[in-house]
Amino acid sequence: MRKGETEQQPHLRPLSVMVISIFVCALAYVAFSFAKDPAWLRDTSSLPPQSVFVDPLSFAVMGANGTFRQNSFDSGFNPTGTKPPFFQVFDQDFLGVLGQAPSITEIASNDTFAFAHEAPIYDPVQDFVYFASNDGGPLGMSDIDHNNKVGRINLKDVSTNLKGTAINIPVTELSLPDTIQMTNGGTGPFRGNLLLINSGRGALPPSIALVNPNPPHNATVLLDNFFGRQFNSLNDIKIHPSGKIFFTDTVYGWLNHFRPEPLMPSQVYRFDPDTGAVRVVATDFDKSNGIAFTGDGKTAYIADTGASGGFLGNNQTEPATIYAFDVDPVSLAFKNRRIFAYSDAGVPDGVQVDTEGNVYAGCGDGVHVWNSEGTLIGKFFLGSTSANMAFAGKGRLVIMAETKIFLAEIAASPSLFTS
Ligand SMILES: *[C@@H]1O[C@H](CO)[C@@H](O)[C@H](O)[C@H]1NC(C)=O
Ligand SMILES: *[C@@H]1O[C@H](CO)[C@@H](O)[C@H](O)[C@H]1NC(C)=O
Ligand SMILES: *[C@@H]1O[C@H](CO)[C@@H](O)[C@H](O)[C@H]1NC(C)=O
Ligand SMILES: *[C@@H]1O[C@H](CO)[C@@H](O)[C@H](O)[C@H]1NC(C)=O
Repeated sequence: MRKGETEQQPHLRPLSVMVISIFVCALAYVAFSFAKDPAWLRDTSSLPPQSVFVDPLSFAVMGANGTFRQNSFDSGFNPTGTKPPFFQVFDQDFLGVLGQAPSITEIASNDTFAFAHEAPIYDPVQDFVYFASNDGGPLGMSDIDHNNKVGRINLKDVSTNLKGTAINIPVTELSLPDTIQMTNGGTGPFRGNLLLINSGRGALPPSIALVNPNPPHNATVLLDNFFGRQFNSLNDIKIHPSGKIFFTDTVYGWLNHFRPEPLMPSQVYRFDPDTGAVRVVATDFDKSNGIAFTGDGKTAYIADTGASGGFLGNNQTEPATIYAFDVDPVSLAFKNRRIFAYSDAGVPDGVQVDTEGNVYAGCGDGVHVWNSEGTLIGKFFLGSTSANMAFAGKGRLVIMAETKIFLAEIAASPSLFTS
């Protein structure tokens, strides 16, 4: 007890105050038990459709005869053996992301072509989602002699009553100018255009470019060098609320045999589209990859896919890690780097943030979601790799899964500047 508390005489309080106090205490106790005891989650009737609760306590101890995972790049962590796609719930916070009537459904597929790798961009005017095929990797149908492809789907082609049964809506390929080589990331729309980031191919330089979403899909390259030096293979891009463009550079062009050996570190840059000024805002990564900001622009997330090594092979002792940074209010440089999350499956690649500050990343078994404290609250479990995803307005998450695209209808909404 603190000083002074002993002087209170409860029996002197009016009866009504006592009754109200008891009632409030009882309510608080019920709310506390509800929040802390996951027992109610084990009752499947209280879970939303297509959801499975996996109590972290249920696998906290696996014992001497446990079947432990050897390879984080296999089909992932699915202790209930549930058939994908489904929502894997680890924490009650994930129910806020899902809402009461979520669904997750395959909406496009092509078994022989990884047409939906990264660069998801939602255009709210047309209700289109744009994306790029895998550049230089498995089923990408692209290499040092062949460019990858940018395509789009029309979400109006998705029927309104999705009930988890796979459909296959048409993908339209865009005919882009030759200045766009090996697109790996995208965001926007920015000033009415798609903002694409391209890895380059052979001697053709990596670049950032505006692309007209409408035919003839003409492009304007905004940046293709750092003071006369080519980037290694540009990877992912976001627009900060300040209007400045931030992007990552890493080594996958070389590791996938379509770019020369890297000549600069893997790092994060800031570009001012109005003045042309370009500078480094963060360095010391193994392989800097996905990038995202919270809606207020004060926190930046950078994924490091170090464990995924292209022709060098995967190495599970290297990073599969998302770092958080404070964004300096004046210089917008990234400060106070700290660990935000380490992925249990594959590597975290593209990153998005919702209005509640939950962080979504494409990983080895689907899309993982951490709350703003960095607790893994759930997964959009696919049993295969997702490299990125984008909100298509409120309550719709479009998930890239290489040879497939999934649509999740949920409760969450995108933070303003993360599309
Ligand atoms: C592990 O398996 C062995 C061999 O089947 C068995 O003797 C032992 O009791 C098991 N241990 C536990 C903790 O279940
Ligand atoms: C899959 O993609 C390949 C390469 O673009 C194309 O030739 C084929 O028609 C596609 N298959 C389907 C079923 O869309
Ligand atoms: C495309 O061409 C039109 C007409 O010349 C021009 O106004 C527009 O800025 C161009 N868009 C891009 C992204 O280059
Ligand atoms: C994996 O990475 C670690 C740390 O960089 C390194 O020491 C080790 O040699 C690597 N293993 C292989 C098989 O490349």
